[in-house]
Amino acid sequence: MAEYIKIRQMKDFIGKEVVIKGWLAGKRSSGKIAFLQLRDGSGFIQAVLEKSSTSEEKFLKVKEITQESSIEVTGIVKEEEKAPMGFELTILDFKIMSLSLDYPITNKEHGTDFLMDERHLWIRHRRPFATLKIRSRITKAARDFFDNRGFTLIESPIITPSSCEGTSNLFKIDYFGNEAYLSQTGQLYAEAAAMAFGLVYTFGPTFRAEKSKTRRHLNEFWMLEPEMAFFTHEDNLVLQEELIEYIVTEVLNNCTYELKLLNRDLEELKKIKAPFPRLRYSEAIELLKEKGFEDIQWGDDFGAPHEIFLSEQFEGKPVFITHYPKAIKAFYMEIDDVDPRCVKCADLLYPGFGEIIGGSERINNLEVLEERIKEEKLPEGIYDWYVDLRKYGTVPHSGFGLGIERLVSVITGIEHIREAITFPRTLTRMKP
Ligand code: 4AD
Repeated sequence: MAEYIKIRQMKDFIGKEVVIKGWLAGKRSSGKIAFLQLRDGSGFIQAVLEKSSTSEEKFLKVKEITQESSIEVTGIVKEEEKAPMGFELTILDFKIMSLSLDYPITNKEHGTDFLMDERHLWIRHRRPFATLKIRSRITKAARDFFDNRGFTLIESPIITPSSCEGTSNLFKIDYFGNEAYLSQTGQLYAEAAAMAFGLVYTFGPTFRAEKSKTRRHLNEFWMLEPEMAFFTHEDNLVLQEELIEYIVTEVLNNCTYELKLLNRDLEELKKIKAPFPRLRYSEAIELLKEKGFEDIQWGDDFGAPHEIFLSEQFEGKPVFITHYPKAIKAFYMEIDDVDPRCVKCADLLYPGFGEIIGGSERINNLEVLEERIKEEKLPEGIYDWYVDLRKYGTVPHSGFGLGIERLVSVITGIEHIREAITFPRTLTRMKP
């Protein structure tokens, strides 16, 4: 009896008779030989049926199999150097399980809008398949990284009574007659948990009602947010660079096939090795001015062109821009000892892309935090529980937020962040 296997397992079955259950991704045929592209969720493979080795009736039946019909194929596994998977299947027999009718995504060039409307089907195709498989490996690697270092995973709520990252991009909801918001970040809750468990991380969906249409913005995205008691600003940066190096290495070691499907330049990824260079915000402003960005002033936030320029100055390595002015950063960031106009924070800029991580040391002094909340005119009372953390055994602590879709974008090399999540939510898209 032929064994039922996944395409991924073919390397262990060379020369053996196996059964593959999957779908027809495409086909072509000459009068004497038919090539079926099969996919089964673990990969894509070419299966070959020669007229001379089967009955006339069977060979004719191949014509009936339409794109995306589900089929069961029995065949012999053969090595094939040219195939991305390295194997091919010589068909002995096949059964059609269900014929697909008028599948809308064909071989011709389709526009992005059309493909995004058909996203529920498009995810069956090579590029989304490879991208989302790599995403899955990235989140596994991130979780392994923290779990192996003794971090505790905690869940922060999605429905929240307050903002954390400014009020301009909150999604409001009606919570039994009270105003509430979809969470922009799990950070404040992660800080509470860090005082209970020491090293923690949250990983969940976050929401920003930003009206941005860039290739880096989603309105619903997943954020990985570690928070560490007794970590300084510098400890925080070291953890970030180790995390990024670890994730990229895991993808390089485990996603060879998917990276090949995406034609990813591996040399670029191999440069992502810690330590990453660090540049203070003030130095970055000077560098930008020197290089012809004349409009930018100390105190301004960077736009995409500034970030991209800065990100490309360090031989393919990401760069930390540190110590931004406090006026353009969130209320909870620790004031810098060297320049009190600035805070102990960093954004990690990825070459050619820009920010993938935002993090900081948090204010741990009660009076300073209360002062900052007042200065920012944040609503009174709502942050009482957060302020409490500074009353009962406050300690230096730091954390950061890594946008998973941004990391997926830079590792896979896809053009637009909407392809880094299975069903994206953007300014113009809520379907499907
Ligand atoms: O810099 P942000 O706003 O930082 C925070 O939310 C902190 N509370 C995180 C923390 O310290 N725990 O966002 C962090 C990261 C960004 O660097 C980016 O990767 C991602 O979240 N991000 C987005 N990703 C996709 N679409 C958007 N609209 C994003 N906004 C932020």
